[in-house]
Amino acid sequence: MTTSTKNVEGNCEVFPAYEPFASGPRIKLPKYGSEPVATGGGLAVAEAVEAYKSLRSKLMKARESRGMRSMVITSTAHSEGKTLTAFNLAYCCAQLEDTPVLLVDADLRAQGLTALTGNQQQCGLRDVLGNGAPYASATVASDVPGLYLMGAGEGSESPAELFSGAGWSQLIAWASESFKLVLVDSPPIGIVADFNLIEAGCNGSLIVVRAHRTTQRALEEALGQIDSKKVVGVIWNEDDRRPEGYSYNYQKA
Ligand SMILES: Nc1ncnc2c1ncn2[C@@H]1O[C@H](COP(=O)(O)OP(=O)(O)OP(=O)(O)O)[C@@H](O)[C@H]1O
Ligand SMILES: [Mg+2]
Repeated sequence: MTTSTKNVEGNCEVFPAYEPFASGPRIKLPKYGSEPVATGGGLAVAEAVEAYKSLRSKLMKARESRGMRSMVITSTAHSEGKTLTAFNLAYCCAQLEDTPVLLVDADLRAQGLTALTGNQQQCGLRDVLGNGAPYASATVASDVPGLYLMGAGEGSESPAELFSGAGWSQLIAWASESFKLVLVDSPPIGIVADFNLIEAGCNGSLIVVRAHRTTQRALEEALGQIDSKKVVGVIWNEDDRRPEGYSYNYQKA
């Protein structure tokens, strides 16, 4: 397995371990004009960009003040916007100076992030957890400087088995030292056993709530099933209370 250490020069953190990936092939990510945000309809909306940038600030604050380097993005059910939120947030965070971000597709059943990013790399998370593939061969650079991807990969072993070994927390430990921020797209809370195992390896969680879809009861039940100390905040997705349309609000849990 590849290992790395984080250097601290003065007050400035340096993450040299991601550099080898920067010279390899790069995945061309979907782009919408010059904006770093994809919405469901393929449109970039100025208001959404601003909302993601504001979320980004809050995430980076949580990283500094609460030491949260690896954050899982989840929700109470399918299709609430976990993957889109993970992608757009990672995209925005990577735009900050000296902020290498690793975006991991840990939803091994749906593999929504792997599909959204067009990641054709065969080696991915399944290969790391199931076959001990080197971290570096499962990591690929994107054409957004600072944004790196680990796709779902291939294999038939059950995700719950894969996440229950020590490999997952070892991978997150490596990623947290090698990248400034690790964002993990995950399955919903409580539907499959994978989520709690994925959450256990990370030190923060973000809950996506989709307007007109997520019920209060589902949210309450879900919050009861996760580690409340790790919750960074709740993201209100597709808020249409304002006439402009798309909106993404954030509330600290
Ligand atoms: N704010 C939004 N505006 C428009 N479309 C959205 C928004 N959020 C999500 N969508 C769309 O809704 C669909 C589901 O989103 P996404 O795949 O991100 O959800 P998910 O929670 O990851 O789903 P799954 O649990 O199946 O992985 C996608 O087609 C996505 O583009
Ligand atoms: Mg998804």
